[in-house]
Amino acid sequence: MNTELSWVNEAWDKSLEKTLHNTARIGSGFPHASQNGVYQLEAPNWWTAGFWPGMLWLLYQESGQEQLKALAEECEVKLDEVLDGFERLDHDLGFMWTLTSVANYKLHGNEASRVRALKAANYLAARFNLRGQYIRAWNPWTEGERNEGVAIIDCCMNMPLLFWASHVSGDPRYAHVAEAHTDTVLKHFIRADGSVYHIVNFDPHTGEMLEGLGGQGYAPESAWSRGAAWAIYGLTLAYHHTGKDDYYQAAKRVANFFLSRLPEDSVPAWDFRAPDELRNLRDSSAGSCAASGLLLLADKSEGGDADVYRAGGERILKSLYENYGAWDVPAEEGLLLHGTSNYPQGTNIDVPLIYGDFFFVEGLARLKGWGPSYWE
Ligand code: GLY
Repeated sequence: MNTELSWVNEAWDKSLEKTLHNTARIGSGFPHASQNGVYQLEAPNWWTAGFWPGMLWLLYQESGQEQLKALAEECEVKLDEVLDGFERLDHDLGFMWTLTSVANYKLHGNEASRVRALKAANYLAARFNLRGQYIRAWNPWTEGERNEGVAIIDCCMNMPLLFWASHVSGDPRYAHVAEAHTDTVLKHFIRADGSVYHIVNFDPHTGEMLEGLGGQGYAPESAWSRGAAWAIYGLTLAYHHTGKDDYYQAAKRVANFFLSRLPEDSVPAWDFRAPDELRNLRDSSAGSCAASGLLLLADKSEGGDADVYRAGGERILKSLYENYGAWDVPAEEGLLLHGTSNYPQGTNIDVPLIYGDFFFVEGLARLKGWGPSYWE
């Protein structure tokens, strides 16, 4: 690593130190957002359940600290209740089992982990709507709600589980589903300027696209930054797994939009098109997720493109480290301050978020030369 990146080692050491400290309270729990310095623990079926164990695996790989491995494994076993329960699962099976069972299988060849992740991949593939060529996002949030036609941009990050399942099983069906869904993302979610819809609603019977929705963004035609981050990273991963140039071009289009909208400190507003008075509110998690994706996109690119994406990823991570880190706040469990989970619902605004922390550590690991990641 060149000396200009010495900050990366400092940031890594501080992330490890804080996480080791956090293990005493969080243990094998499932944190999501930090309130007043304390990570709130969620039920294991919540979509964020993979990020804490995923971060423990990442830090374990470099540090060899056995307690990190033991807790990551405990989290994975706890998720069996959700896998067996089935009905509480939605499309975020990818986030949850890529960072637990797939990680464990890749690192240790654990047979039980392989079976768990394959089961999760089967459930995910079964959410595919043949007429609309999309993976259904959620189950009803409220009694009687009809959301069979809803697909969301976040699902791009769930596709690696399907690519992995085809790879280990030799059965191409999972990858076919992932490609069909990704083709639909290119057709209906990505706008000409490189911004993205969070939600697209389809007629689940005919497959016709009905409307794009704002979801966790400000408005239907706005530009939710974490949605863009999911697209940058997820489309780059789809390109990695398939070699399809369409996916690479789409990832670059979203990346160029994202980079061109960053403010002076390189950490995105929660929605690039929110009204002026709301754009001071940042989403550090969109920054760290996009940064890790940009570093992968740089590895897949050549010449000037590679330089631009690499510099963009580095710049974001450095600013997160210098301006958003809670390193000097021992009473704060989160690594990164100023994440925005769901502004329209008014939940977890301007707080640390576990996925922000995970992708920050993953981005640092990439800068340290680590890889391939669990998603690859
Ligand atoms: N996947 C939901 C979110 O990004 O908040």
